[in-house]
Amino acid sequence: MGSCVFSLAVIMSEAKSIETVSLSHRTGKSSLQVSLFGATVTSWKIFKTEMLFLSKKASLDGSRAIRGGIPLVFPQFGPGKLKQHGFARTQLWEHVSTDHDLASGDVHAVFKLTSNDATRAEWPHDFELTYAVTLGMTNLITQLTCVNTGETDFDFTALLHTYFHVEDIAKATVSGLGKVAYLDNTDEKKQKMQVSPVLTFEGEVDRIFLRDVKDESTGTARMRYDDLISIGDGGNADVVVKAVNFKDLVVWNPGASKSASMPDMEEEGYKRFVCVEVGSVAKPVSLKPKASWSAGQNLTLRILQSGTEEARRVYGRESVPGVDNLPILDRIVGIKKKDPAADNKADPK
Ligand code: BG6
Repeated sequence: MGSCVFSLAVIMSEAKSIETVSLSHRTGKSSLQVSLFGATVTSWKIFKTEMLFLSKKASLDGSRAIRGGIPLVFPQFGPGKLKQHGFARTQLWEHVSTDHDLASGDVHAVFKLTSNDATRAEWPHDFELTYAVTLGMTNLITQLTCVNTGETDFDFTALLHTYFHVEDIAKATVSGLGKVAYLDNTDEKKQKMQVSPVLTFEGEVDRIFLRDVKDESTGTARMRYDDLISIGDGGNADVVVKAVNFKDLVVWNPGASKSASMPDMEEEGYKRFVCVEVGSVAKPVSLKPKASWSAGQNLTLRILQSGTEEARRVYGRESVPGVDNLPILDRIVGIKKKDPAADNKADPK
């Protein structure tokens, strides 16, 4: 097959001249869009179904950080000396390359941000950030690398602020964090323990889960979370998050009233996303001159089947919800019980 099947395109956003890089898997079954503003992934589709949330009121013209998708947080998570979540998400990045894996059909793109006068005005260090994304048919890998190109050490925190689309926050679950310590951002950052292995959402949730924290109650084992965290919304498919080299994990949903107070959040937007954010935020990363640091995430769509270990872990019982209740699967493969013919017609393009 010729290279045109990859349908790589660089298109201009309508609002202003912020470029968006569009990638398509060779099979046509998945696609990705990355705005050069912040190298923010703004769309990840599998079988034409959007996996990420992007607020209808998000600014895509470079006037503010993009509300949704996968904004990059660097060199500061949260509030602090720099502006909230640092400057990487509001800088213009360079699109370095796009490559296609001929065997698998996966698409790999690389973006770069180098220290410049604007970043030095906020943070007096020289660095090179590389953001590499690999789009598979049912998975997405995003990896951030930082090289200290200056003469002195520096510290930073970093995070991939992924907004996962869910059908309804009332049915959303984040699994795999049972017995993990967290700092509660809604309660003066007090350290607490996640008791239930399945986190659900009633009101605001803003928690920094910590990987390397000793269990003070027993004084022995380290509390650690299962490397695989999954996000479901009541159907029989979920998205599995595998963190690579990131130490912490933030789970955030603003709840109704905070959501309403955010100028770039669509009406009742909090109902349609959960942020699950791999990051190294509790303790800064230190980088010596010429040294390099790298961390990332692998997001994979998973279809859950009754009787499997995953189904037990996610739903706490043998059977997963029946075919009348397949919100994610409906969105992904278009299975509709009332219209079985749709299965046969399902054209993933
Ligand atoms: C999360 C933080 O990572 O990002 C929250 O834990 C914060 O405290 C949220 O509210 C959104 O931040 P922002 O700057 O994009 O509104």
